[in-house]
Amino acid sequence: MKKIRQPIIAVLGHVDHGKTTMLDRIRNTRVAEKEAGGITQHIGATEVPIEVIKKLAGPLLSLWKGEIKLPGLLFIDTPGHEAFTSLRARGGSLADLAILVVDINEGFQPQTIESIEILRKYRTPFVVAANKIDRIKGWKVVENEPFLVNIKRQDQRAVQELETKLWELIGKFYEFGFQANRFDRVQDFRRELAIVPISAKYGIGLPELLVLIAGLAQKYLEEKLKIEVEGPARGTILEVREEVGFGTTIDVIIYDGTLRKDDIIVVGGRDKAIVTKIRALLKPKPLDEIRDPRYRFDQVDEVSAAAGIKIAAPNLEEALAGSPVIAVRSEEEIEKAKKEILEQ
Ligand code: GTP
Ligand code: NA
Ligand code: MG
Repeated sequence: MKKIRQPIIAVLGHVDHGKTTMLDRIRNTRVAEKEAGGITQHIGATEVPIEVIKKLAGPLLSLWKGEIKLPGLLFIDTPGHEAFTSLRARGGSLADLAILVVDINEGFQPQTIESIEILRKYRTPFVVAANKIDRIKGWKVVENEPFLVNIKRQDQRAVQELETKLWELIGKFYEFGFQANRFDRVQDFRRELAIVPISAKYGIGLPELLVLIAGLAQKYLEEKLKIEVEGPARGTILEVREEVGFGTTIDVIIYDGTLRKDDIIVVGGRDKAIVTKIRALLKPKPLDEIRDPRYRFDQVDEVSAAAGIKIAAPNLEEALAGSPVIAVRSEEEIEKAKKEILEQ
């Protein structure tokens, strides 16, 4: 049976431009505040159910012509610090769609450009969140307001400053080969890059950003997102880590098929493929960040793509972050999967 899986949305951008804060606002969490030095050092994942998206989008939902078929969105948070190029690339390579976060007051910075190169390399469509508009002089903040409502409150000078900063951004994108425009001035979303002005801190513009992301995913990625749910799972290791009571576990993004508790998995290791039997599947609660959960994980019997899941199994000490995870259901498949992993 085919179903539409939730799209994987990577959040990329320069350090401190507001990626984690934006996800905190969507999740109603405080992950960013607890980070050492205020810097994200790991790659994260959070499932946001479609009901939450609908609630945040509020009245904008009426812009949505037709039925919403997506079950939700799976967000991948990445670090913006220059030291973490490989984590950004991992996030970018997994993504169906991405949000490039740019602090509108700082504009293009080195890891903004690096993020664009990653998205280009993997041909990942993306939208731009021009963040921190609340820092424009005299900006009037009303929490969670749609941008197009909030802009009407601003005096002429603030509006002008926003326009100037947007034009600078658009000019930069042009230098990098993109035709970009403010989202409400975009004519053709396949050809133009949409920029949504937001304040991650106060939630301004998030309604439009979420409607846009979900709408684009459904409109342009529907074929890609249609998967054979019952098929064996495929995924990528985000992180290898110790978990009290479970030993070494792997945090994995499943992007295809269904992983079952009694599956055998073949996992990429430092210099070999590891074949192991799953001991437990630990699923974060919806809206919880896999790397910093508020609640205990649920032990589940199976999980379907797309999802972030912690897998407990023997012999994962040598597992390598960034490597594939392939579920197998026969001897023959084990050999095939081992070969595939070693050839990578
Ligand atoms: P890295 O993951 O380390 O690359 O950073 P990040 O992009 O996740 O940024 P983070 O969410 O850590 O935010 C960096 C700082 O900017 C924090 O102090 C946030 O409170 C602040 N910030 C983020 N978004 C906004 C915003 O919309 N307005 C204002 N005024 N501050 C913001
Ligand atoms: Na930060
Ligand atoms: Mg962060």
